[in-house]
Amino acid sequence: MFSIINELEGYGQFSQYLNGIDLEMPVSPEALLIPTLNKCQELFSFIPAQAIKDIAYTLEMSEEVVQAAIDEHPYFTKEVKQQVRVNVCGGPVCYQRGSYDIYDDVCKHLNIENEVSSDGKICIKKSLCQGNCASAPVATINGKSYNRIEKEEFLKQVDKEIEDSKD
Ligand code: FES
Repeated sequence: MFSIINELEGYGQFSQYLNGIDLEMPVSPEALLIPTLNKCQELFSFIPAQAIKDIAYTLEMSEEVVQAAIDEHPYFTKEVKQQVRVNVCGGPVCYQRGSYDIYDDVCKHLNIENEVSSDGKICIKKSLCQGNCASAPVATINGKSYNRIEKEEFLKQVDKEIEDSKD
């Protein structure tokens, strides 16, 4: 349905959400706009430019209307606020090699319960297969790949990225 360049982690999930919107429901597209923006903000912690286009397309409204809603609500932002994004592969090979345990360990280490730290600055997610199964388990921190990750070493790396992000 969309010609999205899928550069954002989780964009596929948001596309699915958009695809699931039923404009035949007895609700106006305008009434669906805020919940849709909420979903987007929840997934990415900001509203990507591509999402503005896709939301407008899905809800059959102009991009200006979507833009106006974003501007009106202080909760929505077009800027990335997160400073550290950890993406642990949750694909089948990495799963078999313990990536879920590593994911849980990082969450526990950073005291993150629901993917995003309480200050909103750190986000950790499980991704689909990252296409690097031979090096499983793998992960990325701010887009940088880490292969054959081991818990202790990976936790140190995450801590280092957090420290560096404060500079
Ligand atoms: S399953 Fe993790 S890279 Fe493929």
